[in-house]
Amino acid sequence: MYHFATVLSTLLASSLPASLAAPGTPSSPSAQNTAPFTPAGGIGTAANATPPVYHPLSDFDFQSMNLALNQEWIELDLFHHALAQFSVEEFEAAGINADDRFLIEFMADQEVGHATMLTNILGPTAAKPCNYTYPFTTVRGFVDFCQKLTRFGESGVYGFLEHLDSRPSAELLLQSITTEARQQMIFRQFEGLFPMPIWFTPGITQSMAWTLLSPYIAHCPAENPHIVFQNFPALNITNNPSAIPLINSSLENSTLPAITHNRSIPLSKPGFQLDLTWEKPGKITGYDGLYTTNTSAGPAQFVAWISQLNTTYTPLFNISADGTSGSTLQPGDLIFGNGSAPLINGTLFIAITDNNTFVTPFNMSLLNTHIVAGPAMYQSG
Ligand SMILES: *[C@@H]1O[C@H](CO)[C@@H](O)[C@H](O)[C@H]1NC(C)=O
Ligand SMILES: *[C@@H]1O[C@H](CO)[C@@H](O)[C@H](O)[C@H]1NC(C)=O
Ligand SMILES: *[C@@H]1O[C@H](CO)[C@@H](O)[C@H](O)[C@H]1NC(C)=O
Ligand SMILES: *[C@@H]1O[C@H](CO)[C@@H](O)[C@H](O)[C@H]1NC(C)=O
Ligand SMILES: *[C@@H]1O[C@H](CO)[C@@H](O)[C@H](O)[C@H]1NC(C)=O
Ligand SMILES: *[C@@H]1O[C@H](CO)[C@@H](O)[C@H](O)[C@H]1NC(C)=O
Ligand SMILES: *[C@@H]1O[C@H](CO)[C@@H](O)[C@H](O)[C@H]1NC(C)=O
Ligand SMILES: *[C@@H]1O[C@H](CO)[C@@H](O)[C@H](O)[C@H]1NC(C)=O
Ligand SMILES: *[C@@H]1O[C@H](CO)[C@@H](O)[C@H](O)[C@H]1NC(C)=O
Ligand SMILES: *[C@@H]1O[C@H](CO)[C@@H](O)[C@H](O)[C@H]1NC(C)=O
Ligand SMILES: *[C@@H]1O[C@H](CO)[C@@H](O)[C@H](O)[C@H]1NC(C)=O
Ligand SMILES: *[C@@H]1O[C@H](CO)[C@@H](O)[C@H](O)[C@H]1NC(C)=O
Repeated sequence: MYHFATVLSTLLASSLPASLAAPGTPSSPSAQNTAPFTPAGGIGTAANATPPVYHPLSDFDFQSMNLALNQEWIELDLFHHALAQFSVEEFEAAGINADDRFLIEFMADQEVGHATMLTNILGPTAAKPCNYTYPFTTVRGFVDFCQKLTRFGESGVYGFLEHLDSRPSAELLLQSITTEARQQMIFRQFEGLFPMPIWFTPGITQSMAWTLLSPYIAHCPAENPHIVFQNFPALNITNNPSAIPLINSSLENSTLPAITHNRSIPLSKPGFQLDLTWEKPGKITGYDGLYTTNTSAGPAQFVAWISQLNTTYTPLFNISADGTSGSTLQPGDLIFGNGSAPLINGTLFIAITDNNTFVTPFNMSLLNTHIVAGPAMYQSG
């Protein structure tokens, strides 16, 4: 196991900004507190502060939250669709019992709530529900699709939440996305995966989230707002590890639904070779023929791994002459060095890039211009 005490003491000393290292130190000696028992600083907490308004304050806010609304609508449809598509016998054979099915139905109800909240924020021009196309034919395939879709839905919001102009709206969205995070974990449990093999959940940009979402939306009401984010060319991991096959045997191998399995046989390990194919730009994607994939990047050179707090790179090799296929190796980095968790675990994002540009969670959008294709969801654990 991880050596938390030693790891944490070294990590905290080395990685926290100096201003956070000494709790209780005022940020500025002249700062005045605004109310009793209220430390100086913070935004919107003073008794005479402007009352919060829960509306977009910019195009950035509207477009970002409208993208999130499209995500909520597909989740609502998806959960209902699967409950209607599969028989009780099919669910039971995958280890999903009546109580579990009620939980999925309740998740659909949560999506009604989330979509109502976002529609209230956005106003009358908010996106309405669409028609969707799904890639699964079995209960296991449905569960796997759900844990991936909710992962990019969740990460897609984490990527823009702290950049919204409207902090009151961000507060409400945060309270819905933490609920969605629980859905993601439950779908992993329904698939027999370790529920949360990561220390941090990554954020991705809106264009990355829209690239992952758009292939599953078929038709929308004509009045739905045009989504301005970029659709990158699609990336396929042709040998992506999969937990879809149902393994009903030992504890160490089982993929039966469970709160957790002690998985001693990980789906992938450092050094695993990923074989990748990706599209050239210019392909129609998304609903009603309205969107086209595009990239502003140069030739493919690296694979970006967006996981935990980090965007790390591995070189592409065996790149085909037409520049649309290649391979890379899963890195073995540990998030905070020796004694900490592996950077690569769980359901994460990889993309083809033209450079190994250093980005951190708050400036991830600077990666967009370097994306050749992707992201794709990599199933590491
Ligand atoms: C798993 O195997 C056991 C024993 O063979 C059987 O009783 C059970 O029904 C199986 N469960 C599933 C979900 O296949
Ligand atoms: C979705 O499909 C239904 C039934 O096939 C159809 O009635 C409806 O018009 C479609 N909606 C959109 C927005 O295309
Ligand atoms: C990705 O590659 C696999 C293996 O070649 C293939 O079965 C699958 O259809 C591909 N997926 C897409 C979306 O092209
Ligand atoms: C677990 O899976 C591995 C790899 O498929 C296999 O070699 C091993 O026998 C399995 N162990 C048990 C206890 O079923
Ligand atoms: C689960 O894995 C941990 C870490 O490898 C180990 O310490 C523990 O004994 C395992 N528990 C079971 C029930 O296998
Ligand atoms: C991923 O996490 C699981 C659960 O902690 C662990 O069993 C597995 O070994 C990890 N995978 C890697 C590649 O470290
Ligand atoms: C990509 O977008 C740019 C800027 O909007 C445009 O000029 C170009 O034609 C687009 N490329 C493709 C393949 O659609
Ligand atoms: C290199 O890629 C080609 C397909 O483009 C494939 O046939 C070949 O096996 C790959 N070589 C290696 C070493 O992966
Ligand atoms: C991952 O990101 C954290 C936070 O920025 C940083 O402290 C750590 O060094 C990074 N780890 C790796 C392996 O890049
Ligand atoms: C991490 O562990 C390896 C192997 O034990 C050792 O060689 C290396 O110096 C350690 N790195 C740090 C930063 O402690
Ligand atoms: C490529 O990435 C390297 C390393 O982060 C950086 O120094 C360089 O400026 C980048 N080049 C471009 C064209 O962004
Ligand atoms: C992103 O922010 C980090 C600091 O957190 C900085 O070192 C890096 O250069 C920035 N990346 C770009 C592409 O500007």
